[in-house]
Amino acid sequence: MTTTEIATMQEEVRALARERGAVILAHNYQVPEVQDVADFVGDSLGLSQEAARTDAEAIVFCGVHFMAETAAILCPDKTVLIPDLDAGCSLAASITAEQLRAWKAENPGAVVVSYVNTTADVKAESDYCCTSGNAKAVIESIPEDTEILFLPDMYLGLWLEKVTGRRLRIWMGECHVHAGIRPADIERWQADAPDAELLVHPECGCASQCMAFGNVRTHILSTEGMIRFARQSPKERFLVATETGILHRLSKEAPEKRFEAVSEKAICRYMKMITLEKLRDSLRDWKHVVTVEPEIAARARGAIDRMVAIV
Ligand code: 13P
Ligand code: SF4
Repeated sequence: MTTTEIATMQEEVRALARERGAVILAHNYQVPEVQDVADFVGDSLGLSQEAARTDAEAIVFCGVHFMAETAAILCPDKTVLIPDLDAGCSLAASITAEQLRAWKAENPGAVVVSYVNTTADVKAESDYCCTSGNAKAVIESIPEDTEILFLPDMYLGLWLEKVTGRRLRIWMGECHVHAGIRPADIERWQADAPDAELLVHPECGCASQCMAFGNVRTHILSTEGMIRFARQSPKERFLVATETGILHRLSKEAPEKRFEAVSEKAICRYMKMITLEKLRDSLRDWKHVVTVEPEIAARARGAIDRMVAIV
């Protein structure tokens, strides 16, 4: 699409959102033209908080399915739409409710902390939910002598063990995009850009090794944490180890600074399924409505409420 075509479609989207009483929420990994038309752009935690507080009649969720499901659980009286139902998540797909029930049966008495990248069924089997933005605070809120089952991301789990000093039982799931960012990618950059600060998402396959470097220029952060950090840092150059969609938001929030992807291959095909055209169609044709079965939603709600409350 040309710049003019994009601008015209963005106007159409804004007009439809107004007409329909819908708020558009977009994750930091969305394509630039979708981020630019949204009412709110943020990380999983910020998007859940925004969904919980909006007074709009409907929410169009430009992100992946588990995020829209979380919004549907938090707002049972609102319509939640996702522009493409196939926008899944390889990490969320790495554990089913049945597998979690079996794991719990093997560890009676343990508290279950689930990363938000899980299906509603898995959340319904969990005690707490967390995101990369509040996972440390959630773990620290649980009494020290309690055994914790942490799922499904192993790299996030290993990072949590390091920063909290707690031993966790960790599910061996991973996100294919972040697991693909390897220590070699970081080493190459450290040689090429010794002046840059390194921003690393805790889902990355290189996160544990980055911590082992003990380098003061390395910062393990959620996507929104990266944006806050870059905005307030006096430094000018940043290497970013996460999905490349965040570069648009970073450059918008701190235009005078320089941001480079550690790996250009770190692209989430699920996040990229949401296009401006599909967003327009979603508002125009009122599709695809995301619902969660009330019994599952009620059980998942407790875990999500605890997550939204702890920042
Ligand atoms: P954030 O919550 O840090 O935005 O991460 C979401 C996600 O899906 C990471 O891949
Ligand atoms: Fe899921 Fe990974 Fe995509 Fe995030 S980047 S939505 S964890 S597949």
